[in-house]
Amino acid sequence: MKRIALLTSGGDCQSLNATMRGVAKSIYETYPDAEIYGILEGYKGLIYGNYKKMKPSDFSGILTLGGTIIGTSRQPFKYMRDPDENGLDKVKAMKSTYKKLKLDCIVILGGNGTHKTANLLSEEGLNVVTLPKTIDNDIWGTDMTFGFQSAVDIATNAIDCIHTTAASHGRVFIVEVMGHKVGWLTLHAGIAGGADIILLPEIPYDINSVVDALNKRTEQGKKFSILAVAEGAISKEDAALSKKEYKKKQAKSPFPSVSYKIGKEIEERTGQEVRITVPGHTQRGGEPCAYDRVISSRLGAAAAELIKQEKYGYMVGIKNQEIVPVPLSEVAGKLKMVEPDSSIIKEAKSLGICFGDK
Ligand code: F6P
Repeated sequence: MKRIALLTSGGDCQSLNATMRGVAKSIYETYPDAEIYGILEGYKGLIYGNYKKMKPSDFSGILTLGGTIIGTSRQPFKYMRDPDENGLDKVKAMKSTYKKLKLDCIVILGGNGTHKTANLLSEEGLNVVTLPKTIDNDIWGTDMTFGFQSAVDIATNAIDCIHTTAASHGRVFIVEVMGHKVGWLTLHAGIAGGADIILLPEIPYDINSVVDALNKRTEQGKKFSILAVAEGAISKEDAALSKKEYKKKQAKSPFPSVSYKIGKEIEERTGQEVRITVPGHTQRGGEPCAYDRVISSRLGAAAAELIKQEKYGYMVGIKNQEIVPVPLSEVAGKLKMVEPDSSIIKEAKSLGICFGDK
């Protein structure tokens, strides 16, 4: 008999349910009488003891369902050691919920912040297995996170739709893509959508270079241009500021996001009409794509296998298409960023895509 809890934390994504289904199916295959608990709304549920006992039927019909059937929330790691507004010790409270449920293991699905808390719980003696969730694909220790490819498809579709209208009107279009502080989503959607200019947080841009690339297209007789801009894109001059100076500057910025700043500069410098599209949270919604369903099923089954082997303190990752356990202590606190010198960037540049860096 096994007693297991599932917890989804941080921003949601398309393949969370598919992944939990993978864990549950594989656990029930080996332990038909297993007890699986769903911790409600992320770490909040673990802190305040909100959970529900799941039935095998809860995991049926959810392979294609977006979101998370047990809810999620953001509970920043930096406040985990601070007591809540009523003086409750959150770490102690999480350990006590775990003990109360007499769990063999808690399976935590989440991104970077989630992994820091998961590692903390593991260090506090709980049996933890994690699964890499995020549309940002920025978790260290895995080539791929579930949710990423589904989001790439949506962002690509947004760029595809913009293509026809951009061509009809002869305008410059900016599509702002999610991804937080990293550019994986923008890079992949930008290439897949045929963007002319891709701006990433990892490659601070020079607006002169962006303007030159646009003017070059105009000289070549091209009537429209498309930029895929990461929400975390940053200019060279802003990247040179200290964190504090940059925050101060941002607080005074009249623009709702970086794309609007870039759009205004382009209009002023080129005289071309600019439109901005922000697909926003649509990138996290809807069904998981087939690729995500496959990796979610594999990752879920692999997490169950670790539980069967009583091998705890690991994130289940993917390296070179193979599933690998990665120690949580190695994952927590690190970010996987796009390398400006990586082959994918070189290949994109050789296609003529401008990254605003020269
Ligand atoms: O981490 C996933 C993500 O969608 C990022 O790409 C984005 O910056 C952030 O979450 C948005 O967070 P929220 O849903 O809390 O607004």
